Amino acid sequence: MTSRLSAADAEELRRGWDLRQEPFLPHRDEAFAVLADAAAGRRALDLAGGPGSIAARLVNAEVTVLDVDPVLLEIARAALGDRVAVVSADLGAPGWAAGREFDAVVAGTALHCFGPDRLRALYREIHGVLAPGGVFANADRMPAGPVVGEGGLAGWHEWWATALAHPALAEAARDRSEGDSADFYPPASWHLDALRAAGFDEVEVRWRRDDTAVVVARRTH
Ligand SMILES: C[S@@+](CC[C@H](N)C(=O)[O-])C[C@H]1O[C@@H](n2cnc3c(N)ncnc32)[C@H](O)[C@@H]1O
Repeated sequence: MTSRLSAADAEELRRGWDLRQEPFLPHRDEAFAVLADAAAGRRALDLAGGPGSIAARLVNAEVTVLDVDPVLLEIARAALGDRVAVVSADLGAPGWAAGREFDAVVAGTALHCFGPDRLRALYREIHGVLAPGGVFANADRMPAGPVVGEGGLAGWHEWWATALAHPALAEAARDRSEGDSADFYPPASWHLDALRAAGFDEVEVRWRRDDTAVVVARRTH
């Protein structure tokens, strides 16, 4: 019989996770503080929340962590205990949203896993789980405008964003194998347009430092 993960071991694993995540989302702490502020005091869902790094910051909120990875969810459960509910679900298909309602949905360093078609649909599903007045906040790499640099991570993200958004590659993009991250990092304007199209009434880039941004969208009715 396997023993249960202790809170101390889970915290230690989560600290190691946080250290290793920072290079993927520079200024991660500041961006996550903006997410926490958006979700304060609400029934909040940490979407693709992994080991609960964002959930841990959602004080005074009723928090649910949703993810597909059972190891990460077990760490979240052990680290955060009764403070959070943990839900195992796959965001690659619409079923995850059935019967759920929240006042805030937050996501960090996660939604780039989905290509443009799935992300547009996911934004509609997020709109659907929010009560009127609810907010959605997403922190990820989102260039302010078209990226002109050739090299480095930004050039690579731009290459994938361009390829995956190309209409002639839409079918091939849909066939990419499940579990692979789409590494889709479009500019913030793409997210704002997709959120409006998903039914959100008020959308804005609430915070930005370099290529890290937080987009916030409100469902007013
Ligand atoms: C880079 S991690 C970010 C986790 C957490 N939000 C954070 O910032 O520490 C991406 C997360 O997305 C989750 N994920 C990827 N594909 C998913 C899917 N189809 N359904 C649910 N979660 C998924 C992964 O399991 C992982 O926890």
